[in-house]
Amino acid sequence: MLTEVTATRYVTPLREGGSLPGIVEADDLGTYVMKFTGAGQGRKTLVAEVICGQLARRLGLRVPELVTMQLDPVIGLSEPDQEVQELLKASGGLNLGMDFLPGSLGFDPLAYEVDPKEAGRVVWFDAVINNVDRSWRNPNMLVWHGDLWLIDHGATMIWHHNWPGAQASAAKSYDASDHALAPFSPDVAAAAEELAPLVTEELLTEVAADVPDEWLVDEPGFETTDALRRAYVEALLPRAATIHERIELGPRTERRASQAPGWLTEHLTPWPHPTKKDRTKDSST
Ligand SMILES: Nc1ncnc2c1ncn2[C@@H]1O[C@H](COP(=O)(O)OP(=O)(O)OP(=O)(O)O)[C@@H](O)[C@H]1O
Ligand SMILES: [Mg+2]
Repeated sequence: MLTEVTATRYVTPLREGGSLPGIVEADDLGTYVMKFTGAGQGRKTLVAEVICGQLARRLGLRVPELVTMQLDPVIGLSEPDQEVQELLKASGGLNLGMDFLPGSLGFDPLAYEVDPKEAGRVVWFDAVINNVDRSWRNPNMLVWHGDLWLIDHGATMIWHHNWPGAQASAAKSYDASDHALAPFSPDVAAAAEELAPLVTEELLTEVAADVPDEWLVDEPGFETTDALRRAYVEALLPRAATIHERIELGPRTERRASQAPGWLTEHLTPWPHPTKKDRTKDSST
């Protein structure tokens, strides 16, 4: 089960996010990025965040800690933005929180080097969960203290929007040609060899157990929330075992620059900027 905290103060909205996540403080004195049950994308987004985020963490990939957050909409009463007010009003009860990484930067493929092993782990993991939201346009990765962190697993497991077709959907290939890490020669074979054996029925069952019942009830076709949890396990288990054979990387792509014009970027330190690893190397010599 995820730790449960209670929101004590709504700090500010994160306008970059399509679902209008907000920075919120909680009664454990932590600061979280809160994703709301009342957001247009619906509660399945939160289910996906929990299952995929927890799976990633259990596999040793960096994802900020997840918690469930009780929200009393009253904390938004002094919020001047009407859109935010509406969202808070629609989200009373249990929501999702992700540990806020202060001072983190959005991943920029021109400014940060990712080695093929790490790129392979991320691309392989995204293939397992069928993540369509880690493209170079919207990488949904942060760099924090020199390390790469994965965020935003809401747009994954497309099969949970159509359970009768889930088995066929989960058997499909994964198109990684637009993936933000495709240009870093991702070694997906090595990743599969290392990580696929770790994705056991037991692990997936534990991860699915972390999803609160509230977000699973009343799914058509399922008598109980545990039956629905089981469906997530049954979709992911065979996919993890074989997806590396069906990852389409396409022809090798170049790292794409941001859209900034040359006159703005020419004077910047040439790529690659030092990463945490380089800095450790420097200090040891
Ligand atoms: N844990 C975190 N620490 C710091 N900043 C974060 C964190 N999580 C998210 N952010 C910031 O908030 C933005 C929006 O978050 P996120 O991508 O999870 O929201 P979303 O609504 O699902 O977005 P999208 O528009 O990609 O669907 C991120 O791009 C990032 O800048
Ligand atoms: Mg995002």
